[in-house]
Amino acid sequence: MKFFIDTANLDQIKEAQDLGVLDGVTTNPSLMAKEGITGKENIINHYKKICDIVTGDVSAEVIATDYEGIIKEGQELAKLHDQIIVKVPMIKDGVKAIKYFSDHGIKTNCTLVFSAGQAILAAKAGATYVSPFIGRLDDISTDGLNLIAEMRMIYDNYGFTTQILAASVRHTMHVIDCAKIGADVMTGPLSSIEGLLKHPLTDIGLAKFLADYKKGN
Ligand code: E4P
Repeated sequence: MKFFIDTANLDQIKEAQDLGVLDGVTTNPSLMAKEGITGKENIINHYKKICDIVTGDVSAEVIATDYEGIIKEGQELAKLHDQIIVKVPMIKDGVKAIKYFSDHGIKTNCTLVFSAGQAILAAKAGATYVSPFIGRLDDISTDGLNLIAEMRMIYDNYGFTTQILAASVRHTMHVIDCAKIGADVMTGPLSSIEGLLKHPLTDIGLAKFLADYKKGN
């Protein structure tokens, strides 16, 4: 499973990259705003900075919601760097734009996916990645992981090459559960990745090894 970090914070992106297990970055307009990145030029420069830090795919979301606008903005974003993946919302014009991008060799991430039906449409349109938001489904008492399982079954039934990008991952158990179900990618905060490191027996075992070493030296 690929690991993407879901942030626009450059320090956290560097930290995850330095760990050596990072495969890419996802951003969205809210994450950009959280870092105080506003205005088209600043946003474009920020994407370039992210691409300089990581070697993998970097999702950059369009703001336009009409077909022509999404195409124009997506083409501009794709030209920024070959690591850019154009993130397009799951709306009617978005699906049409994903088909256009797919036909013209531009990679896409279909975002804001909350149902198996939406996931089928995005795959048929040729999306590179599809992002089911599991945390936001959990937030409304609906099993987000069940959507990942449904998508895995459907994509495998028909050999869709679209990658399932489990998004809105909130914690480490989400990461492990997504891996069990067979999500191709997960995107989450740095804490969800670093949480995988932790086990009390590792800490206790290491402390004992070091103490025993000191006794003999
Ligand atoms: C996906 O690409 C989104 O950026 C993200 O995962 C949303 O997560 P949230 O529901 O925690 O805001």
